[in-house]
Amino acid sequence: MSKDRLFELRKLLKQYNYEYHTLDKPTIPDSEYDALYRELENLEAMYPEEFDPESVTQHAGYEVLSEFKKVIHDKPMLSLGNVFSYEELKEWAAKIEKIYGKIEYCAEFKIDGLAMNLLYEDGKFVRAVTRGNGIEGEDVTSNVKTIKSIPKTIPYKNRYEIRGEVYMPKMAFERVNHERIVNGEEEFANPRNAAAGSIRQLDSKIAASRGLDGFWYYVPDDINALTHYDSLEYARSLGFKVNENNRLFDNIDEIYDYILKTIDKRHDLPYEIDGMVIKVNRYDIQKELGFTSRVPKWAIAYKFPPEEVRTIIEDIFITVGRTGKCTPNAKLKSVRLQGSTVSYATLHNEDMIKEKDIRINDTVIVRKAGDIIPEVVRSIKEERNGTQIPYVFPDVCPICHSKIYRLKNEAAHYCINNDCPAKVVTGIAHFASRDAMNIDGLGEKRVETFYQNGILKTFEDIYTLHTKRDIILSLEKFAEKSYQNLVDAIEKSKENSMENLLFGLGIRQVGEKASKILSEHFENIDNLMDASVEELENIKDIGGITALAIYDFFHDDSNRAMINSFKLHGLNMKYLGVKKKESVFTNKTCVLTGTLVNYSRNEATRLLESLGAKVSSSVSKKTDYVIYGSEAGSKLDKARQLNVKTLTEEEFIRIINS
Ligand code: IVH
Repeated sequence: MSKDRLFELRKLLKQYNYEYHTLDKPTIPDSEYDALYRELENLEAMYPEEFDPESVTQHAGYEVLSEFKKVIHDKPMLSLGNVFSYEELKEWAAKIEKIYGKIEYCAEFKIDGLAMNLLYEDGKFVRAVTRGNGIEGEDVTSNVKTIKSIPKTIPYKNRYEIRGEVYMPKMAFERVNHERIVNGEEEFANPRNAAAGSIRQLDSKIAASRGLDGFWYYVPDDINALTHYDSLEYARSLGFKVNENNRLFDNIDEIYDYILKTIDKRHDLPYEIDGMVIKVNRYDIQKELGFTSRVPKWAIAYKFPPEEVRTIIEDIFITVGRTGKCTPNAKLKSVRLQGSTVSYATLHNEDMIKEKDIRINDTVIVRKAGDIIPEVVRSIKEERNGTQIPYVFPDVCPICHSKIYRLKNEAAHYCINNDCPAKVVTGIAHFASRDAMNIDGLGEKRVETFYQNGILKTFEDIYTLHTKRDIILSLEKFAEKSYQNLVDAIEKSKENSMENLLFGLGIRQVGEKASKILSEHFENIDNLMDASVEELENIKDIGGITALAIYDFFHDDSNRAMINSFKLHGLNMKYLGVKKKESVFTNKTCVLTGTLVNYSRNEATRLLESLGAKVSSSVSKKTDYVIYGSEAGSKLDKARQLNVKTLTEEEFIRIINS
């Protein structure tokens, strides 16, 4: 019976899927799987009444999302504290063992991907949310659904939340990057970026094509186990992919041995790891140890040292950034480094090249700085054979050929021509970047193309791109859909809060933090434009040089004209305030007193405000909470007299983490 065959195939393919993706142990060849898959697809087409959303053919839910919904985590998704040496690890453990004596730890690979929270209700996978800022993440369910090893149903009916890492296996990373080169797209820097970029795709068909996978390593408040290790074994029994290298130890020296062995073999693994995570195994001890404001005290990440490799410098060339800064770079003979192919490295500035005596054709040691940008550590002088050429720093900009200058007390050279195409292009790309106006689809490559075609030379031009449809569509590789996405992203950017615009303008000294402070203070761009240097200087955290830079910027006629033009295009010019998270502190009046250990007074105030509280400086009957640190004095006394609820810093942290 064909229908029987249909049910049989669904069951079979589900099993093969599990063996392939979860156990990494396929029992049939891919070609056979594909044939059975096609047979199932045909039968499903014959019997539409037997439609089943759980069928393997439905997992790739190729729907197109309009935007990601924001979701507030039930419990904050915290990060981990780091240690980098045996001594630091020992110290971390000693603090715990001082209280509890010898205890058991679970050591796990630290998977290099992006943290994800999965929610199951009534045995069904209902939601996947990214960590986001820890408090609030993005609902990326449709994309995560396409990860085949993630169970879509589990044999457990209670609400079940599990956290882990979505990652891109090394093989998939190679393939995806190869495809990107062929398509003339920018390569992903590493598998983590590639995974994050894939999860953030609005079209889940793209995420589905990226070969993502996941490991699951934490079940908050698991009622099914007394220890972390057992909770993961339980998760495994439910069908989750739990890393096979989790090990129990009761001795830090043995953990360190395991770390050293893992460092040795990390490159043979099919996925990237960047450290080891060590967790107190017993739940009751974990609970007692609790959390600091940012990280659990019961777990720590041992970060692996950056990897170093040898290669040859084939050439040295200069790139010009948004501020005109001229940075020397090395073109390298391509090498593999921490999971990606590296062909370029920064040489920082002229002094560094001189101090390290780095020459073209030198054999050099390269490593990744901050895990992303590779840098040249040193040259190996013994390997020189007479073909090495010392580098002469140029005196003109390689892009616009105007003279470049080295500023007093600075190591960098600058191109001071404001019309230098390199500065204009990187400046516009910065304006459109994620933390500024967040215009998806307007990265540096695209800005450069538009610039060269004469349709994008200023920030304001962004807001007339919708009138350039024909030109844009005539450009190579520009489809109607990407044009529409771009126009939509530009339109949406008009609603951004003032600090995004301010940061995007790229005023000297005005980074993200200063943009926020200024926006909070002045509330709209007009107030800021009219501010005197003195007024600016008096704002906490805004220094004299910054104040001058802001004043100069807004007293330049062309900049004022640009702001006017933004207004005409309908850009929001106001500070829209912090997004408030519902909590016990929402709409409550709080007073902070005494010295807090985990926060500065400002940080605590901002945190409370972000939770919707009003922070006041004096205690009255109307005060809802007084949060106190050490050496609290009269305010705490008054709160007690008035029967106002008081919270220690620890209690406060526990509430915000609960
Ligand atoms: S436990 C409250 N275990 O590393 C405990 N994290 O640098 C939360 N990570 O945010 C995390 N592998 O995204 C844990 N085996 C592992 C991990 C792991 C990778 C990530 C995770 C975390 C980040 C901290």
